Amino acid sequence: MSFDRSIKIAPSILSADFADFGREIQAIEAQGADWVHIDVMDGHFVPNLTFGPPAVRAFRPHVTTFMDVHLMIAPVDPYIDAYAEAGADMLTAHVEAGPHIHRTLQAIRGAGMKAGVALNPGTPVETVEPLIDMVDMVLVMTVNPGFGGQKFIHSQLEKIRRVRSMIGDRPIHIQIDGGCDPSTAPLVAEAGADVLVAGSAVFKDGSVDSPSVYGANIRAIRAAAEGARDAA
Ligand code: DX5
Ligand code: ZN
Repeated sequence: MSFDRSIKIAPSILSADFADFGREIQAIEAQGADWVHIDVMDGHFVPNLTFGPPAVRAFRPHVTTFMDVHLMIAPVDPYIDAYAEAGADMLTAHVEAGPHIHRTLQAIRGAGMKAGVALNPGTPVETVEPLIDMVDMVLVMTVNPGFGGQKFIHSQLEKIRRVRSMIGDRPIHIQIDGGCDPSTAPLVAEAGADVLVAGSAVFKDGSVDSPSVYGANIRAIRAAAEGARDAA
């Protein structure tokens, strides 16, 4: 996939119907999702538990865009090969997940995937500086990870700006995750984010039987974000 900074909407299937992931993924892609965001939680790094490599492997044939796997787990390294085999296009690990994030990022690229590094809201931006040439994406969490439907944390906007200036002209995406909706999308887009993860704001009021609602939700977020860019 060639690199660009256009706004990309990545619905998080954390807000999908857990009994119907295949059709949910097909529905959001048909309705304009650019990437599919998969939130892996271990009940240890975060206080919630979702799915592991066999589930991600089962999602793979349904994803025709880009499978973006966000690991909220610790440790990470023992599972990297399993997510590569499951077909992840991008694997994102948290800087807070262990003492050897540098090695983790090397291993992710070594396994043939794009590498992302994520920062919790309480983690300073400087922690990614020594890693910047090892990653394809920096994920700035705009909520404390673990659950969908939380309130956007405005103090992270300054962090997004600082990541954007750190990146310069390197081909590195800035992703934000948490509390993204048409009211917060302009703020993150203006600050420099290009990949917007949204769970509740995409799946709200829709279903696989009324997928056009997903389409309207995705378009509303995209239009809000692009509007802020045009105004800048
Ligand atoms: C939070 C997850 C997010 C979350 C976003 O731990 O990483 O992807 O599902 O959900 P919303 O958009 O509902 O805040
Ligand atoms: Zn996520």
